[in-house]
Amino acid sequence: MLIDTFGRKFNYLRLSITDVCNFRCNYCLPDGYDCDQERNFLTLNEIETLVTAFAQLGIKKIRITGGEPGLRKDLTDIISLCSQTPGIEKVALTTNGFNLARNATAWKAAGLNAINVSADSLDPRMFSAITGNQNLTDILHGVDVAQEAGIESLKLNAVLLKQFNYSQLQDYLDWIKDRNLTIRFIELMKTGDNQSFFRQNHVSGQEIKSLLLQQGWQQKLKHKLDGPAQEFFHPNSTGRIGLIMPYGKDFCDTCNRLRMSAIGKLHLCLFAEAGNNIRPWLTASDVEGCKQIIIDTLFDKKVAHQLQQGFVGGTKHLAMLGG
Ligand code: GTP
Ligand code: 5AD
Ligand code: SF4
Repeated sequence: MLIDTFGRKFNYLRLSITDVCNFRCNYCLPDGYDCDQERNFLTLNEIETLVTAFAQLGIKKIRITGGEPGLRKDLTDIISLCSQTPGIEKVALTTNGFNLARNATAWKAAGLNAINVSADSLDPRMFSAITGNQNLTDILHGVDVAQEAGIESLKLNAVLLKQFNYSQLQDYLDWIKDRNLTIRFIELMKTGDNQSFFRQNHVSGQEIKSLLLQQGWQQKLKHKLDGPAQEFFHPNSTGRIGLIMPYGKDFCDTCNRLRMSAIGKLHLCLFAEAGNNIRPWLTASDVEGCKQIIIDTLFDKKVAHQLQQGFVGGTKHLAMLGG
């Protein structure tokens, strides 16, 4: 089991497989795009070494992220590889949903258990204003297809923005009333690239939480190994709500995750200055060496990020590291 110097246990790996994205969400990539030019992303063999090493160290859940992971042609093979690795109990994907309808059945067959889909509005015009994409209807259809294909856990992510979709919060609550899925409201995070956008659009997670409590939503008790999201349920709603409040003071106390960038750097935090390059061990298929460097790196994990102090860290935008 991976345990840091503050006693936190790590059973969850977020694995970015590309930093390329085909959407242009205004909160994430406001000034265009500066992705890894060489497209030198981890190969299937390197990913196999990585996942084997992490699984032997006690990682049980892998969330595949990007950029947009659906842009990689070998995504189905990556899902299979993860799901077949001894010790991995859950394989999840975070996607913008652009090719979900077409691939959900194949991904499920490859062993995918859970999908989080970004849906920053349920209104096509607002969705397009935020993401630059015109195909909300297809994306929501993809969510239905994924559910029919038997994907056990489906969550929709929405970053609530003061000047855009915040006024539409009620639409989400109505929409999930009879749907067996979770909507997650994500508090906008300040990154290197979105600082003026952040000033204009940040809505505090506490404000969202108060609105939910006023409407009779009740907070679920957390299990020990649950991640930082807070969950809410309502007696009159089939759907559930998750709230991600990175500016909350206890947020990092329950950190249970490590991150790998698409080029083989191990990041101890979404906002850490730089990742530790463990690619040489991956390229050499050296599982034991890889395990040792992971253990050594974890020693440096800090007690918390410093977002509360206005710090933005080394992360220019979250597409760099898969959120
Ligand atoms: P589950 O695996 O279902 O618990 O979801 P998740 O919240 O970990 O994953 P997802 O990829 O859907 O991320 C949703 C949002 O939560 C993104 O904006 C992430 O950046 C943010 N997020 C997830 N984990 C962390 C974290 O450890 N720290 C911070 N600051 N934000 C996080
Ligand atoms: N603040 C909050 N959430 C963000 N995401 C990307 N950038 C930000 C940000 N600056 C979210 C996306 C996606 C998830 C992986 O990360 O909306 O749902
Ligand atoms: Fe963990 Fe960093 Fe996220 Fe805090 S911000 S929960 S330390 S990854």
